[in-house]
Amino acid sequence: MNKKEGHVFVWPIGTRIIHWMMALSFTTAFITSFYEHMLHDHVALGFIFLTIIIYRIIWGIIGPQYATFNTFKLRPSQLKHYFVEKVQNRWRKIPAGHNPASSWFTVWALTVGTVIVVSGLLLYGVQEAKGLFRFLNSDYTQYIGILAWVHKYASYLFAAWVFIHIAGVMVEQFWHRTGMVFAMITGYKRTEGEDTKVKPILSFFAYSTILIAIGTYFFIVSSNYNFLTLQKYTNIDYEEMHPVFYNECGDCHKVYPPYMLPKRSWQKIMSSLDNHRGEEITEANITKSQQASILEFLTQNAAETSKREAAVKVMHSLGERRPKNITKTPYWRETHKDIPKSVYKQKKIKDKSNCIACHKDFDQGIMDDMNIIYRP
Ligand code: HEC
Ligand code: HEC
Repeated sequence: MNKKEGHVFVWPIGTRIIHWMMALSFTTAFITSFYEHMLHDHVALGFIFLTIIIYRIIWGIIGPQYATFNTFKLRPSQLKHYFVEKVQNRWRKIPAGHNPASSWFTVWALTVGTVIVVSGLLLYGVQEAKGLFRFLNSDYTQYIGILAWVHKYASYLFAAWVFIHIAGVMVEQFWHRTGMVFAMITGYKRTEGEDTKVKPILSFFAYSTILIAIGTYFFIVSSNYNFLTLQKYTNIDYEEMHPVFYNECGDCHKVYPPYMLPKRSWQKIMSSLDNHRGEEITEANITKSQQASILEFLTQNAAETSKREAAVKVMHSLGERRPKNITKTPYWRETHKDIPKSVYKQKKIKDKSNCIACHKDFDQGIMDDMNIIYRP
């Protein structure tokens, strides 16, 4: 674009692309966070955001004119002066680089952004047992609540921040008529100052960041099994683990994973087999010693012993209660509350206890969000 009179070239193309990638990745990650089954996409978008946060921090140290932190106007007196002038003088001059408000905005956005990505990565590891921090799942599930809280409210804060930023830009555009909206599109600002020049090495850094961010996104969405999103838990082969359990308890339905109920629930189930959901299971069907062996297996692998998200959350939701059905746990009810009752009457499903009808991977002891067939 040819330079217009009274305009300064402030934002090079790399900066602009990265600005919009940050805006877009945050917005889409924010939207997908409301859909449990979009977690994988959410994480992929989060990695774009993460790459750009890291880049922007480095850029703030080594970047070109107008971008570095040492050009930021962060003194409270400067901020005050900025707002006083803003109110008193509609036609004031604007600086070529960051004004005090946008300096503060950037510092805060990077701080909150860092909190978002760090808490997100940790939560993904601790709660889902997935990703780079999946190893933390074995010892830190008690922090799920706090991590989820921090991750959620930090992103609300960021969203609020974005709205303030947009409002500020709109005021510049329509009240002060500084053409601010176009600055991040064309790179030119209506102001005075020197044009920015970017050293080739810095341009290379900016373009590499763009490629890495987009590359990581496609790397994640194109496969479930990559080191950035891999889950600690793999498929369970109950047949191999405990053939008696697999064969006897899998006679009428697929076996329910032992980690879905606490020990005392399994004891109750095993001591009332004569009336098992209307079925009478006797020693003629499953011998005493088989029953004892099954019970041992169930209690050894019950919810108390597992750090899987479902086990931890089932235990948390139960308190002192010990129901005989997974479908009676508050956690199950909560995760399935959006499914209309009529769905369970469908021929393919028949009963809410027919987990495999909706969870493709149920017979492997997994109920991954990504493998759900039916969705409300
Ligand atoms: C004779 C058939 C039969 C056998 C054998 C059997 N079950 Fe069941 N079980 C049922 C029926 C019927 C239901 C109700 C849900 C359904 O229709 O699938 C059920 C439901 C359950 C549920 C509750 C699921 C929920 O939350 O709604 C659990 C847990 C369970 N069975 C465990 C076991 C265990 C453990 C064994 C082995 C000791 C076993 N079952 C063997 C017939 C059987
Ligand atoms: C009608 C289909 C359907 C049936 C039957 C069903 N589920 Fe689900 N289940 C879902 C859906 C849909 C979700 C996802 C809810 C969401 O995305 O928030 C879900 C979520 C879950 C989750 C949470 C997964 C996660 O990581 O958030 C678990 C655990 C689960 N189901 C276990 C079971 C078990 C155990 C049974 C059988 C006793 C069962 N479900 C029966 C549809 C079903």
